[in-house]
Amino acid sequence: MDIAEYLERKRIEVDRFLDLAAPPAALPPTTLHGSLRYSLMAGGKRVRPILTIAAAEALGHTPPGLMAVACSLELIHTYSLIHDDLPSMDNDDFRRGKPTNHKVYGEAMAILAGDALLTMAFDLISRPDLMKGCDPVRQVRIIQELAFGSGNMGMVGGQVFDIQAENQDIDLPTLQNIHKHKTGMLIRAAVRMGAIAAGASDRQLDDMTGYAEDIGLAFQIADDVLNVTGTREELGKNPNTDAERGKKTYPTFYGVDGAKQLADDCVTRAISRLASFGSSADPLRAIARYITARKN
Ligand code: IPE
Ligand code: IPE
Ligand code: MG
Ligand code: MG
Repeated sequence: MDIAEYLERKRIEVDRFLDLAAPPAALPPTTLHGSLRYSLMAGGKRVRPILTIAAAEALGHTPPGLMAVACSLELIHTYSLIHDDLPSMDNDDFRRGKPTNHKVYGEAMAILAGDALLTMAFDLISRPDLMKGCDPVRQVRIIQELAFGSGNMGMVGGQVFDIQAENQDIDLPTLQNIHKHKTGMLIRAAVRMGAIAAGASDRQLDDMTGYAEDIGLAFQIADDVLNVTGTREELGKNPNTDAERGKKTYPTFYGVDGAKQLADDCVTRAISRLASFGSSADPLRAIARYITARKN
């Protein structure tokens, strides 16, 4: 399959839905809405919502409310990036090819834009109009997946592990645990939410979860590699920031080539988890390969 064409088509659909779902910049409080739109519509790859859609498609369904479910992940993800870039966290001044949110709107507004995106995500997947036709039991499970994947036991927990590891001589299991949480848990939620929306059996959900955990790790290893090898133009964010901040990453442990190899191993393992699915899971397989081949 042509994965570039698939990703582009889905990205456009996601962008269109987000644009309609996000409050207009002219709606008060206008600074808040301008600020959150600035980061949300800045051209992310939309990997997480696309994973949700591809997971549902793998099960042969486009269930009611799928776009709202998928896009809720992008709202959470964008909030996490705005906060991740703050001076008190990674202190980055460039993201998605533009100055970071706090550089344009100030720290207070960036914090509030992140807060608003986080809460909007839960509004989106609870709204009767957008979720019409979704089985209510499934809907509650989906909401819980989003909360679990993004919160203290998921992404936020991972961000805590990550900042506590700065300038520390951490070992490999500690690094794996950081990656598993800060990046892996939201990707895991994305795949599981799509699978649950589409009515996955327990066995199917287990297989998809294994796939998601493997690509989640591959995704963050690839991010670590790109931090060393990428340029600001390619990445839309500054390279070499991990080393500057005293962060041990996969390339620190294995070198760039060793880290790439490990990411490829994760991808192979992820694809093998989908053995019981037919060609409807080809997009998921192709996304796994894309994760390590990407340039940004
Ligand atoms: C970057 O995420 C931060 C990580 C969790 C590695 P993405 O690489 O998905 O960033 P965007 O959304 O495309 O900007
Ligand atoms: C970002 O991780 C993870 C989250 C925002 C949850 P990084 O700090 O390693 O990602 P970049 O390099 O800033 O995108
Ligand atoms: Mg960070
Ligand atoms: Mg960062």
